[in-house]
This record gives sequence, C-alpha cells and structure tokens, in this order.
Amino acid sequence: MSDTRPIGVFDSGMGGLTVLRSLRAHLPHENLVYLGDTARLPYGTKSPETVTAYALQATQLLMAYDVKMVVIACNTASSVALVPLARDLAPLPVVGVVEPGARAGIAATTSGRIGVLATESTVAGGAYPRAIAALSPDTDVQQQACALFVALAEEGWGDSSIAEATAARYLAPLFDNEATAPDTLVLGCTHFPVLAPAITKVLDARGARATLVDSAETTAQAVVELLEMQKLKNTDDRTGTERFLATDAPERFARVGELFFGRSITADQVELVDLRPSI
Ligand code: DGL
Repeated sequence: MSDTRPIGVFDSGMGGLTVLRSLRAHLPHENLVYLGDTARLPYGTKSPETVTAYALQATQLLMAYDVKMVVIACNTASSVALVPLARDLAPLPVVGVVEPGARAGIAATTSGRIGVLATESTVAGGAYPRAIAALSPDTDVQQQACALFVALAEEGWGDSSIAEATAARYLAPLFDNEATAPDTLVLGCTHFPVLAPAITKVLDARGARATLVDSAETTAQAVVELLEMQKLKNTDDRTGTERFLATDAPERFARVGELFFGRSITADQVELVDLRPSI
C-alpha cells in the first residue's frame, strides 16, 4: 500500500534545504513539507533548553500537516533535542542528522581521526563525539566551531576568497600538526555543504587530504531505509510536491533558500506560519 502522507522536514532556517535537496534526489515521489524557523534563527548560539522548546513547537506544527515522519534537518536541534522530540512525537518516526553523519564519518576514515565542523552549540553539546564513540570507541574526534560559515553560506559566498580565508583560519588548528590531522571532515551543520568548495581549496593549498562527509546525503539514505523498513513509502508514479513554511520573511527564505535547495523557490510558494504559543 502506498503512503502518500508527506515527510515533515524541520530546520532553524534555510540550511536544512540541503537535506531537502538530498531527500528529493533519493525520493522523487515523496511529498515533502519543509518548515524553517526563520523568525528565531540562529539556533547554533542558543541554549539547549531554548532550542529544545523551539524544536518541540516546530515539530508539533508539522503534525498538523499529517506527516508520516519527521526529519530534524538541523544539527543543533538534532544534537540537543532528538530524544525529547522522539518521545514527544512517538510513535511517529523521527530522524536526526547527527547519527547518519557520525556513521558516514566512521565509514570514510582510514586513519581513525575525524574532524567535525559545526556550530558553537553543536560543538559545546558534544553530540558528534558521543555518537562516534558509541559506534567506534577508538576513533579520535576533533571539533571546530565555525560560526562565520553560517553567514557566508546565507550570503551566497560559499565559493569565494572570503570563505577561503575564513576556512583557512578554522581548519588551521586541525591540520597544523600533520601527525594528528584528520583524514575525514564531517560537515556537522546543514549550512556547510555550500562551503565545500572553499574547504577543499584550503585543504589543497595546504597539501592536506580529507574526505568531506555531508550529513545531508547520509540522512537522506537513512530516511530511505526507514521508509522501506516501516512500509511508509509513497509508491505513486507522480512527482512529489514540496511545500515550504517559514516563521518569518518568506521573500528572504525564497531568495536565500535557493542557494541551499539548488532550485528556484518563489516567495509565493512560501507560507508564513506562527509557532509562538498563544497566551
Ligand atoms: N541549521 C543549523 C545547524 O545545522 C545552523 C544554523 C543555526 O545556527 O541555526 O546547526
């Protein structure tokens, strides 16, 4: 039987559209509802309590769209709120981006040294080192907070000299010592895949080699597996639809969102929604 209900995808803003893009590539027939909490972006500098409260409100709103699964397409929210979200939404399946990213990092490393690039909150919460240690206790993990990458990505400057200079600063602590340098970099923030060209150029300039692991791609694979396992696939032949919801500035969401989604989004495709609890 075909399950035509949409998959709900949630992020603090537009970065999660990199996950939506991968989901669309892997699942052409699924209907997708994407919610970006643009009114309260960024999450990456906020406390775990605040991010958890926001994420609970956001996923409750997605439930009103009769979603069959929720994908937390935000590393910060996945890091701090996956457990309470899964509890709150049970029995609905909830997929975060951290574990798929950790798995892909472990699969990619041959030296056993992984670098994780993420937001301040994700680094401070330590979700990646924990997820990696749970799967592969001997793997060494070095983390680097890259706050400026978020603004650069939103500006559309992922492949620019400013991005390269910024990446050079962030990567130096990981690669200055060749003996401890990682051979794999997990892009632990949904904004960071658009910075991949700058990161690659910096690595090339240093003569360093590292595989970049994009958690968007591995999360999409995890969703495909879960849909099959739980018999939730939409087996219709029709091309799936995308519905965009934002808590602020639909015009900016559409304009900046295209950078992450890789396809045109028009402001009239973006619905304004309010997540604040009514008083
Ligand atoms: N989406 C967030 C993440 O993946 C980055 C942007 C933010 O700080 O809200 O961590």
